[in-house]
Amino acid sequence: MKFGHFDDKAREYVITDPKTPYPWINYLGNEDFFSLVSNTGGGYSFYKDAKFRRLTRYRYNNVPVDNGGKYFYINDGGDVWSPGWKPVKAELDAYSCAHGLSYTRITGERNGIQAEVLSFIPLGTWAEIQKVSLKNTSGAAKKFKLFSFAEWCLWNAEDDMTNFQRNFSTGEVEVEDSVIYHKTEFKERRNHYAFYSVNAPIQGFDTDRDKWKGLYNDFDKPDAVFEGEPRNSEAHGWSPIASHYLEVELAPGESKDLIFVLGYIEVAPENKWESKGVINKSPAKELIARFDSVEKVDAELTKLADYWANLLSTYSVESGDEKLDRMVNIWNQYQCMVTFNMSRSASFFESGIGRGMGFRDSNQDLIGFVHQVPERARERIIDIASTQFEDGSAYHQYQPLTKRGNNAIGGNFNDDPLWLILSTTDYIKETGDFSILEEQVPYDNDASKATSHFEHLKRSFYHTVNNLGPHGLPLIGRADWNDCLNLNCFSEDPNESFQTTGNKTGRTAESLMIAGLFVLYGNEFVKLCREIGQDGEAAEAQAHIDQMVEAVKKHGWDGEWFLRAYDYYGKKVGSKENEEGKIFIESQGFCGMAGIGLEDGLVEKSMDSVKEWLDCDYGIVLQQPAFTKYYIEYGEISTYPAGYKENAGIFCHNNPWIMITETLLGRGDKAFEYYRKIAPAYLEEISDLHKVEPYAYCQMIAGKDAYLPGEGKNSWLTGTASWNFAAITQYILGVKPDYSGLAINPCIPSSWDGFKVTRKYRGATYNITVTNPSHVSKGVKSLTLNGNAIDGYIVPPQQAGTVCNVEVTLG
Ligand code: GLC
Ligand code: GLC
Repeated sequence: MKFGHFDDKAREYVITDPKTPYPWINYLGNEDFFSLVSNTGGGYSFYKDAKFRRLTRYRYNNVPVDNGGKYFYINDGGDVWSPGWKPVKAELDAYSCAHGLSYTRITGERNGIQAEVLSFIPLGTWAEIQKVSLKNTSGAAKKFKLFSFAEWCLWNAEDDMTNFQRNFSTGEVEVEDSVIYHKTEFKERRNHYAFYSVNAPIQGFDTDRDKWKGLYNDFDKPDAVFEGEPRNSEAHGWSPIASHYLEVELAPGESKDLIFVLGYIEVAPENKWESKGVINKSPAKELIARFDSVEKVDAELTKLADYWANLLSTYSVESGDEKLDRMVNIWNQYQCMVTFNMSRSASFFESGIGRGMGFRDSNQDLIGFVHQVPERARERIIDIASTQFEDGSAYHQYQPLTKRGNNAIGGNFNDDPLWLILSTTDYIKETGDFSILEEQVPYDNDASKATSHFEHLKRSFYHTVNNLGPHGLPLIGRADWNDCLNLNCFSEDPNESFQTTGNKTGRTAESLMIAGLFVLYGNEFVKLCREIGQDGEAAEAQAHIDQMVEAVKKHGWDGEWFLRAYDYYGKKVGSKENEEGKIFIESQGFCGMAGIGLEDGLVEKSMDSVKEWLDCDYGIVLQQPAFTKYYIEYGEISTYPAGYKENAGIFCHNNPWIMITETLLGRGDKAFEYYRKIAPAYLEEISDLHKVEPYAYCQMIAGKDAYLPGEGKNSWLTGTASWNFAAITQYILGVKPDYSGLAINPCIPSSWDGFKVTRKYRGATYNITVTNPSHVSKGVKSLTLNGNAIDGYIVPPQQAGTVCNVEVTLG
């Protein structure tokens, strides 16, 4: 069952039934100021950091779902409704919500009034614009009342939800003309305030939530709205809001646009006040003036559309499969921008107060983003590396506002450092910018301890070398990529977090996943060293990699697949000898991508085992058999019910590792079959089961052991976005940047006749046509550049500004 449709031309997903199986959301903003908006107008806004600079309030796990947002209410002669259906939930004569690239347009119509709310955040702007278009679609004149609504968060979103003994006394506002200012704590240490304005005279307002709403009412029944009488309330403490009241008159067929601006302002400490107790409003007024007409707003919308058209033009495919095209050309790239911006902080599953920017997560997010805005990728790499410790280890996350690492969700995840090699080498291959290696980068944000970025990579590599266990395999530490395989954490207290407590600090538990990671990105480190003429460094590193390969073959092969780990007692994890958890996906993916034992058929065998044990209708599950009891020596993984999350859920993040490994084996049919199973556009028809957005990947789909296999959860903020983008574009379609040019080596379903890709790379445009006359999956038989044959499959970088034609024949 579907709840809308894709409009590929407009690059929108258009929801036509407000009662989606879960709130289907969109992200507004691309740089500093962000909003989350659901298909019924729910959501919230923040500046840079969803925890420390939250502008509007949101209640989590609310009842009914998705309650609270930026709402509009229309009172049409006593008939009250909202254009987004919620919160009032009056039946609408027409409803649609178009989620586009960084904008959302919600339209509702009832009794001859059409109201459209178009929300977006202009580029380079710390404000959300809402263009509200009201139209009289009836044959008679209409006179009605419009109320806006936003509820302020008292800035620190966590404190705001917990510290009521203080917060109910601190809220402060000012109202001047049509602008409502939120100035809580401005008097003391905050040099920032927020405002909500409209570009028309108002006939009333409210700033005290409970006076406006009535203490015992929900958002669907605010007294002021239903009585058509604003209270002109002034908030002192309690819960400050911003609600404008406007009386609107429209002749038949007439329409009117209003521009609302929700903005964030920072002022220098010496310029905070206009007069005693009165905030300096001039920067707010300047910001409002930039958007005070429809023409100005439309011009910004055009800029935003151009921005996205340009970003997406870097990689596009014509495959003949519209679902594939819309994933690659629009939605997957869009999600990669969102994960780049948010990491794992703010979604409808991540509260914005829990997790910030993950060390491993943000590095991986870059592989789907670096082609979009390489300069921002570069800055991010340096930010991440700046939180690294001198021994190469890492804080697991940092807060975007401060850019400082913290231990809030633990540390000592021994995979963390290696991901820095992935992001950096991908960046250099994309841009050719080796200068990043010479950048002076601090440790633990202490500039006095800075070294070159290259030295950071070296320490990442040697962090593994310096932390090997009894079998010469990498020690796992707290956990590796799988946050829930906690082999050194024997927890008996249900109030302990597996991420932060109970570490046994053993030096026995080893990870085959990190072993694969080390070989794969260690090889990248060696290649990089050779590129920059550090042959001695390369040779030294190579010796460690060779030893690791030997250790994996000797101690990490279980006969038909790679082991997952050795536990605290030195016992095998992920072996046929185990009763549950015999085979895991991560080590098959990473040892496979690293090509360990490729020549001896190990990789092929392990992929066949994945197919046999882990594959199901909805994707590849994380391990089998699922754990049915709590294993204290394995930790959180065994806490989840079977089929969910890390306990045999379909963790969409690691499915592409298998796709990529299949392409190394030349098995394009299998790779693409796995791709289709989890790519959201292919799941649109089963939206009622899948539950989450058909235009965004989710972290987890319930696996075959679950109560409801196929049900998705935790959409948007997941490494799934970047990894699937890499799998489809670089390995299946096979267009991948390398140091010496653009490699084109597809691995596709044998039934395909071919496809076309346009790739912008280091300033030149490559129009690539791949034909597959003999219906193979892999193998470049010939390649021409502007008609001239090239040996191999790497097209050297062409001059910036030029357009070239590349013809590839498989066979
Ligand atoms: C979550 C985390 C990620 C981790 C994965 C597996 O997605 O963000 O860091 O690798 O879970 O546990
Ligand atoms: C839980 C989740 C895992 C996530 C981790 C982050 O363990 O299962 O997916 O990565 O929390 O803190």
